[in-house]
Amino acid sequence: MSVYILGVESSCDDTSAAVIEGTSILSNVIASQRVHSEYGGVVPELASRAHQQNIIPVVDTALKRAKIHKNQISAIAYTNGPGLLGSLLVGSSFSKAMAFSLGVPLIEVDHLQAHVLANFLEKKGEEKEKPEFPFLCLTVSGGHTLLLKVNDYFDMEIIGRTIDDAAGEAFDKAAKILGLPYPGGPVIDRLAQTGDPKRFSFAIAHLPGLDYSFSGLKTSFLYFVRDHLKENEHFIEENVADLAASMQYAIVKSLANKVERAVKELRCRDLVIAGGVSANSGLKAAMQRIADKYHRRLFVPTIDLTTDNAAMIAVCGYFKYLQNDFSTIHSAPYSTAGITLKTLTELPK
Ligand code: KG4
Ligand code: ZN
Repeated sequence: MSVYILGVESSCDDTSAAVIEGTSILSNVIASQRVHSEYGGVVPELASRAHQQNIIPVVDTALKRAKIHKNQISAIAYTNGPGLLGSLLVGSSFSKAMAFSLGVPLIEVDHLQAHVLANFLEKKGEEKEKPEFPFLCLTVSGGHTLLLKVNDYFDMEIIGRTIDDAAGEAFDKAAKILGLPYPGGPVIDRLAQTGDPKRFSFAIAHLPGLDYSFSGLKTSFLYFVRDHLKENEHFIEENVADLAASMQYAIVKSLANKVERAVKELRCRDLVIAGGVSANSGLKAAMQRIADKYHRRLFVPTIDLTTDNAAMIAVCGYFKYLQNDFSTIHSAPYSTAGITLKTLTELPK
């Protein structure tokens, strides 16, 4: 019998609902909140209010597009954290109420695990190769930068992490400094296509082990632009593509250095990237070069599955459903990462 999972995602600024059958996507509806664009970042209070307005129409549309009646749903999976608490509460309260009224199991999902497991989704009717455990996964988003050794669906070890800002934050901050809209990553990526990545050079942090740091890079970009603006008020508009390309080059180089080290040191067959920043063309190219050099297979989610979406929540829910791993209505959302991920004790130095 088919298993249909309704997924609900509301951890940040996207309200999303999806229906999957097994690991096949039947629908994946995302309502992005434009209200944050003018503020250069997500405003939590505005995000919660927008989720409240969006959640019912988004779920309704997801069911209609999947051509599924609500009574056919096997379980409801929702994001329980990490994320903005006010936003998480909207999705979790809605999911609890709907599961309770339908009499179906409720499944809580960790947003970061879901980004990783997005690589197990396929479009309906599509034949797709899947990563094999254990694999190495670089999870890069607006809130997180993690290097994971993924032993099994729910056995993920942190082998490297950022000690300050996330890679996506560095993209967003660079865009803000250049007067570009939020989210900055896609805009920087597009501008970088026509720019010279070697024109300007920005300091990359060299931390021991597999950890990352992006705050120094962010500050050096800010000071560099500010100092040049003093001499030439048109500095940004005259150099925007080269600035974007050079900043992207620095962020990608920083990410790739540690990934290459981890590939050399850990016995993993496959290399996987996940999270919003995995949509970046420079990062994908750098990961492909590493995969080719060390004869690894590279897995990258399709563009619609890199940034926040409910299909990834649903597939995480599907694997939990198979293990009868259900939640109760007492489960409370959490804001910080790490609840469901463990840190590897034997970190390479
Ligand atoms: O995974 P995600 O949708 O949300 C979080 O869980 O944080 O990631 C959003 C982040 C933003 O920082 C955005 O600028 C970045 O992903 N992003 C990109 C690209 N597309 C989205 N960064 C670089 N290049 C892109 N093409
Ligand atoms: Zn995310």
